[in-house]
Amino acid sequence: MKILVIHGPNLDLLGEREIDIYGKFTLEEINSALQKLGKELNVAVEAVQLSGEGEICKQIGSARQTYNAIIINPAAYTHYSVAIRDAVAACQLPVVEVHLSNIYAREEFRHKSVIAAVAAGQISGFGINSYLLALRAAVGLIGQKSA
Ligand code: DQA
Repeated sequence: MKILVIHGPNLDLLGEREIDIYGKFTLEEINSALQKLGKELNVAVEAVQLSGEGEICKQIGSARQTYNAIIINPAAYTHYSVAIRDAVAACQLPVVEVHLSNIYAREEFRHKSVIAAVAAGQISGFGINSYLLALRAAVGLIGQKSA
């Protein structure tokens, strides 16, 4: 079992970016925590950080050849990218949407996710734990699919 984690734009700046909102941990620390939990759950985890909308769509579009599920933090694209929404809808894999912050407790423009309706589910507001919860959810979804 192999799970793809896609981190969207500006998440490479974690650790120095708006620490009061996103916390002090870096993207590397998130990826290490995912690797560690992946080992415990017996799944391989591969993480990429992509800033461009087109690159994200391409990655989602080709994921089915290699991966069993996708975890994605689309970052700002969450709120307006119909292209990423369409890629998720087309990819035929379970997709879990993740946010570090609680997008519903922030500015109004962040309350809307155009991705959520085509994802299996969304986890928002638990910091680094959002990703770890998402990994558990993705593993559960793969289990349901292959059962
Ligand atoms: C985010 C929330 C988005 O609104 C924001 O644009 C991000 C990060 C989060 O993880 O909380 O870049 O997706």
